[in-house]
Amino acid sequence: MSEPTIEQQSGRLWDYLKGFHAVHLVAMGSEAGLFAELAKAGGDGLAPVALAGRLNLHPPYVEVWCRTAYSYGFLESEDGARFRLGPHMDKLLVERGDPRYLAPYVATTVNHVADDLRRYPKHFRDGSMHRFQEHGADFSRHIGDTSAGFHNFIVKRMLPAVPGLKARLEAGGRVLDVGCGAGGLMLKIAQAWPKASCLGVDNDPHGVEQAKKAIAASGLADRVAVELVGGEGIRHRSEFDLVTMFEVIHEIAAEHRQAVMRNVGETLKPGGVFFAIDETYPSNLAELRDPGFGFAVQTQFNEVVWGNIVPTREEQDRLFAIAGLVDVTRAPVGGLFTLLTARKPV
Ligand SMILES: C[S@@+](CC[C@H](N)C(=O)[O-])C[C@H]1O[C@@H](n2cnc3c(N)ncnc32)[C@H](O)[C@@H]1O
Repeated sequence: MSEPTIEQQSGRLWDYLKGFHAVHLVAMGSEAGLFAELAKAGGDGLAPVALAGRLNLHPPYVEVWCRTAYSYGFLESEDGARFRLGPHMDKLLVERGDPRYLAPYVATTVNHVADDLRRYPKHFRDGSMHRFQEHGADFSRHIGDTSAGFHNFIVKRMLPAVPGLKARLEAGGRVLDVGCGAGGLMLKIAQAWPKASCLGVDNDPHGVEQAKKAIAASGLADRVAVELVGGEGIRHRSEFDLVTMFEVIHEIAAEHRQAVMRNVGETLKPGGVFFAIDETYPSNLAELRDPGFGFAVQTQFNEVVWGNIVPTREEQDRLFAIAGLVDVTRAPVGGLFTLLTARKPV
């Protein structure tokens, strides 16, 4: 392959810079309610001054926001006088609960990841960390929001597709959600399978506090509970039909990972199912530039100072072996994540 020219390399940098600005524009539009208001207006769209009026915003700024969003392809317009949402932007930026709803990812990037990145020079100099659990209540809530749409997809599509699982849950299966955060996944599982009961564990006090509130508000406290304990401290044995871990394996501190997975194996009943979604880090240099690993590479950089290490396929396999799990399956999800399933032998 020939070496890129300086123009090509500079074009690459300009594209990344544009991405930075586009993310901020979207975050601003979400937070101020601009996308939601345009969604309400439908196909006719709105003139910027009317849009600003509905949201009590400064009209000249909203005019520039509309034009920029049009330039980036997020809005459409026939005449530059009225703007409407671009195709699919309602699902991506307005409709909470859609698995493709990306507004919380954008908000987390701007509100929290940007703060982390500002601290990076110090962390790089002194090797210090700023763990997930140190980010505070607002961050834990935002993480729960980013997962909500995916949780719907897991419960409606992915769990029912695991052989034999639906029957176990319908019959009153017990579910353990390790790294449950704000508790969204286990509540959705409990809603979908009225005889199932769920326990969530997490070592983030903020997430657990939010999970407790969500459980109380859901009216499902007789079937859903949460404990403030890391997966390495789980004492339940041969009790669960299903253990779930959504975006958790890579978050577990290296020194606890093996203990957590050993406990996961021991908490499952014979024939019980392990179900995880996580990122898979490239195993070699070529994969570092393979777009299929792009999200894992990005996550690793954004979370390196949290102490996170995104596992490779090889590490995932080692963890399954430690847990005594068999029948491992692995499938890419949406070009970003990996679905990992396995079973405790009967
Ligand atoms: C990206 S969040 C995902 C939260 C949740 N599963 C969801 O779907 O919203 C990762 C979670 O893993 C938790 N975690 C990290 N290490 C853990 C450990 N050793 N035991 C249990 N949970 C852990 C974090 O506190 C955090 O809540």
